[in-house]
Amino acid sequence: MSDEDGVQLEARLEEQEAFDPPEEFVEQANVSEKSIYEEFEENWPECWEQAADLLDWEESYDEVLDASNPPFYEWFTDGKLNASANCLDRHLDERGDEAAIEWVGEPLEEGNRTYTYEDLHREVNEFAAALREMGVGEDDVVTMYMPMIPELPIAMLACARIGAPHSVVFAGFSADALATRMNAADSEYLVTCDGYYRRGDPLDHLNKANDGLAGVEHFVSDAVVVERLRDGDGFGHDLADDQRTYADLVAEQAGETVEPVERDAEDMLFLMYTSGTTGQPKGVKHTTGGYLSWAAWTSQAVLDIEPEDTYFCSADIGWITGHSYIVYGPLALGTTTMMYEGTPDYPERDRLWEIVEEYEANQLYTAPTAIRAFMKWGSEYPDRHDLSSLRLLGTVGEPINPRAWKWYYKHIGDKSCPIVDTWWQTETGGMMVTTLPGIGTMKPGSAGPPLPGVDAQIVDTDGTQVDAGRAGYLTVQKPWPGMLRTLYKNDERYIDEYWREYSDTDSDDMEDWVYFPEDGAKIDDDGYITVLGRVDDVINVSGHRLGTMEIESAIVGVEGVAEAAVVGGDHEVKGEAVYAYVITEEGYEGGDGLRLRVVGGIEDAIGPIARPESVVFTPELPKTRSGKIMRRLLEDIANNDELGDTSTLRNPDVVEDIAASVSDD
Ligand code: WT7
Repeated sequence: MSDEDGVQLEARLEEQEAFDPPEEFVEQANVSEKSIYEEFEENWPECWEQAADLLDWEESYDEVLDASNPPFYEWFTDGKLNASANCLDRHLDERGDEAAIEWVGEPLEEGNRTYTYEDLHREVNEFAAALREMGVGEDDVVTMYMPMIPELPIAMLACARIGAPHSVVFAGFSADALATRMNAADSEYLVTCDGYYRRGDPLDHLNKANDGLAGVEHFVSDAVVVERLRDGDGFGHDLADDQRTYADLVAEQAGETVEPVERDAEDMLFLMYTSGTTGQPKGVKHTTGGYLSWAAWTSQAVLDIEPEDTYFCSADIGWITGHSYIVYGPLALGTTTMMYEGTPDYPERDRLWEIVEEYEANQLYTAPTAIRAFMKWGSEYPDRHDLSSLRLLGTVGEPINPRAWKWYYKHIGDKSCPIVDTWWQTETGGMMVTTLPGIGTMKPGSAGPPLPGVDAQIVDTDGTQVDAGRAGYLTVQKPWPGMLRTLYKNDERYIDEYWREYSDTDSDDMEDWVYFPEDGAKIDDDGYITVLGRVDDVINVSGHRLGTMEIESAIVGVEGVAEAAVVGGDHEVKGEAVYAYVITEEGYEGGDGLRLRVVGGIEDAIGPIARPESVVFTPELPKTRSGKIMRRLLEDIANNDELGDTSTLRNPDVVEDIAASVSDD
């Protein structure tokens, strides 16, 4: 090809709005018949037997769906199974020697760890025995506060084995956040670690965990501490009397096996706390049968996972993506799942590509925010490596802009891997809207059609479907197996948060119940859905979900602050960033000192991920006559956009004042 031809091809790529999956991929894809959409629609809900069939059931279920009491749906009723047996035991005969987890630690001399299915089975059994010995019983919630170390999925699977639901708290969350979640779940057990490594430096974790424990209001049993650091790495951790090391516990149970507990399909597998509109996080409850079938089926159909693959998802297990698509989905299918402890830019900005090359990863599933960072760093980093093992690329967590999509397609996928842009949420358990990689044309920036059997529609405020091209609200009109079952111990809030908006809540007819994920979206003539972002007071920073209320209450807790408003503004890499507007109390001055304390208050309450991009002090906040803060205007200021309509404000001048003070800074 001449240089000129090359330039022309490049220009075409830039403009191209639709891409068909590469022939080579289609030929081997797990799903390649378009008829699946019709089949599932005609055969709904029995179509979901296909998902359940991917699992081993101790006792088969009676009914696929019991919709007698919406929105409290039950799936695969009276079926019995165990998630850890499905992720481990059943693979032993054929795949016992194959790698289940390839763990890549931060670059340290002692190196990485491979767990074969045999290894993982052994250690999960030993730790399950240890948990039992400590008194953990069926249905006791065990909290895990751990970074990306193998003991995290081991502890999750050990819990699943004995029927104890886990509640994983992201390690980057603060001590307060840990305490809030343990209190909300009445969780008496904690598995944590002494510390971990970030960009080569040891990071203390145990002191944070201990601070969190001090804030737990009920009795807490002995905590388990994984010793990840070498010789404590200078943090001087002394384990308290009621703390046991993970290594001791497992050694005491060497060679022990624990019979997997038969769980009802509807028994809770885990809880995951996520941010909502109010300050109190929501305890999303997922079950054993429906969730696991959903994670397994979507892993197979969308990520195209085969047992022989080495599959790499760069998310953190502390979020739902890691639960469904590092741990449960891939292991249920018997594949090799990778876990990376470190960051993509240490020791060099080619770290992920080095890992992909070394392990010959077949799929890569990551977030748009990461792709935008890679793009900014430049293509010379991926260009240094042979990425030809990759067969499929995926993104999740936030909308992807077409430029980032095309960069990913070209520089990581070498134009020969389909990209799946997967829309879903903590609450949906797994993917909901995406192209199927062996079938659908890809349109950069648009996630694609709903998965077969998923009834997603874009509606207006009355609930009527909007025309193609018009913005509206994303809804899901029929239940699906992976859906949350309720908010833990709060059925009322479950209905209020997800159903009330578009349902006839007096009806017990499934047709009258509509799930509302709180996202805005539009649909095109081909039925492709473009997700526009949250329409509630939730912001999405680097694919991480944060509640503006949570951040505001943290700021208001800082001495000298009278009132605060937080909004999400556009950010080139993070997608959205936190912008805070703060009114000081009488006698306090807004300045660098107070700004630091505001940032500190946010980090203490939530964690560094919620650190604001800017903190603006203002004498007033824009409010409607009824006293509601007009966040839309604050967003305009954050984005440097033309200011929207201020005529309904009680104090219209304040907006100009804030905007002027921001541009002075
Ligand atoms: C929110 C859910 C899904 C696991 C990670 C985040 C946004 C998610 C996409 C996508 C546009 C997306 C939505 C959603 N979102 N995926 N492909 N395109 N937006 O889970 O923390 O529960 O957040 O993330 O706004 O509601 P989460």
